[in-house]
Amino acid sequence: MSAALEDLVRQTLCVISEGELCRKATAPEGWPQSKIQSLDQLNACADRAVAQAMRLILIVGEEELSRSLQLLNLKKEVYPQFIFGVLLVSKDPKNFLKKQGLPFHVLDILSDKEAKSQLDYFLLKSLRPQGISQGAGTKIIADTIAKLNSIFFCFSQEKVQDKLFEKIVTKAIEFGECSAATLFILKEQYSESYFVSKVFGELNTPLEIEKKRIPVFENSICGYVALTGKIHTLFNFQTGNSLVPGNYNRSYDYAITEGVDSIITLPLKNSHNEVEAVLQLIYKNDPNKVTGKRKTHFDFEDETLWTTFSTQAGICLESVELYADVQGLFEGFVRASVKAIEARDPSTGGHSERVAKMSVGLAKAVTESEVGTYRSVKFRDEEIRELEYAAMLHDFGKIGVREEVLVKAKKLHGSQLTGIKERIKICKAAAKIHLLENKLNSSALLHPKLELDYQKRSQELDHYWQIIQSSNSPSILKQEGVVALERIKRESLLLPDGQTISLLSDEEYQALSISQGTLTPDERLEIESHVKHTYQFLKMIPWTRDFKNLTEIAHCHHEKLDGTGYPRKLTSHQIPLQSKIMTIADIFDALTAKDRWYKESVPLEKATEILCEEVKQGKLDEALVEIFIAKQIYEHTILMPFNRVA
Ligand SMILES: [Fe+2]
Ligand SMILES: [Fe+2]
Repeated sequence: MSAALEDLVRQTLCVISEGELCRKATAPEGWPQSKIQSLDQLNACADRAVAQAMRLILIVGEEELSRSLQLLNLKKEVYPQFIFGVLLVSKDPKNFLKKQGLPFHVLDILSDKEAKSQLDYFLLKSLRPQGISQGAGTKIIADTIAKLNSIFFCFSQEKVQDKLFEKIVTKAIEFGECSAATLFILKEQYSESYFVSKVFGELNTPLEIEKKRIPVFENSICGYVALTGKIHTLFNFQTGNSLVPGNYNRSYDYAITEGVDSIITLPLKNSHNEVEAVLQLIYKNDPNKVTGKRKTHFDFEDETLWTTFSTQAGICLESVELYADVQGLFEGFVRASVKAIEARDPSTGGHSERVAKMSVGLAKAVTESEVGTYRSVKFRDEEIRELEYAAMLHDFGKIGVREEVLVKAKKLHGSQLTGIKERIKICKAAAKIHLLENKLNSSALLHPKLELDYQKRSQELDHYWQIIQSSNSPSILKQEGVVALERIKRESLLLPDGQTISLLSDEEYQALSISQGTLTPDERLEIESHVKHTYQFLKMIPWTRDFKNLTEIAHCHHEKLDGTGYPRKLTSHQIPLQSKIMTIADIFDALTAKDRWYKESVPLEKATEILCEEVKQGKLDEALVEIFIAKQIYEHTILMPFNRVA
């Protein structure tokens, strides 16, 4: 105990009410104390304290609280120099606090169990405010505040939970000049609390990190702090002057060994006043080491500083947790959106994920490159995450494209092909009727010729059907095919009402005349509109600051450097570097994907050749394509399964 604290103890009269709850409470040996049974006796104690210029601390139960406070307040009115405080003993402290809060002058609220076993601890703790007010304790000097500020700034910069845990431990050791520190992360599930991570650090040695579920034991220091949310200080241990009961659980409380002088254990709370973690700090006297100016023990004055430290650390833990929650939310949202796209267009199953993987790979390769055009570009982790999400969502707008266009595998829609087939059948039936009518109205000698004409017509119609079927596939349409289609287009069908219709409608003829692929110009425009839909969708989402460019990156994934892309025909300087990266990954995957039934997949060498060709044409970024090929960014994705979504 520090000399200043010993002085405070000598000048503090401890008055213990002998009510039901406090009967077994006793102050530490040597502490000026009185046991009382009535208000008159309390009055006499207060008079004694005033006369001897002593502070008074009253330990009292709930039932006597209000009358006792009234009396002491009256005394203070008469003697303003009179200093007093109350330690309230309650059967159910939590409930009392919920109902009433902490009344003025009540320094702390203890359970009857704590009053019996840890009264000395709470008595000493209760001296702290008086000590500070009289300048007997810690002086919070400017450089300490500056140190704390820089620590909190360092905490607030951290967004990764595990890294913050490590920082709390190392900064605690550094700030407190401690021998060791342990941080336990607390979790609650189904009303049961347990520690899930433990980070242990010792002066000048690497941190030990353990991730396992550890039950919280009530009869241990860490468990006590976790469950009560109260700071716990143990000091002068080595001289046998322990001021709290020696309950330790060696599975997580720091092992009390020779040389351990003091232990302080702090709750790190969130903004709801719930304990998020427990930080335990150790001061150890090591006679074999030269400690220099390093502190070797705690006293109660330290609690003020450590309370500030733990409050800030608790808030930072909470905000990192919230940040992780938001990340998790976005991650879940992105994955769910990808599922939705792929459910709509099974042929692109896995496409978004592969494009994301290659985009991230290329962005990292750019960051690592020390030579070339992009040697000074260093993407931060957040920017890479932003690119990853943009790539996962780049084709989300396909959800706004008509399904029959989106999944169109042939040039004609199913209903169009059926219509043509029916019309050919009708033509055949008409030829048959024509044959029979002519047979009826002509001599038998002409019948063989009529039969021959009918056969010719029937074969011609079968041939038409074959041409239509072969032209319907997405392969390149040859010149003979174009001529044949023109001939079929000229064919007309006489209806019973005397009207004639073409065997092929204008629309069907145009669709079958597509030279490559399956889409008509209008359908191609409709497919291209997916970029606008992606943009409309993404801009509605209130992205956090880390993802502020995500919408623009995705919006540009079909733009080309020479202005021939869509939808805005941007040119190189208007396209974000991340979009240029994504475009390469997108084209490469579209070429090599093995799960598109409307086209063959292109071999790897051919795909890289096509990328290089696009570079020559000024459409893709040369330096990026070079890195993409040189670093074989595709090597992991090429092996990824091509998922089909049912
Ligand atoms: Fe796209
Ligand atoms: Fe795409």
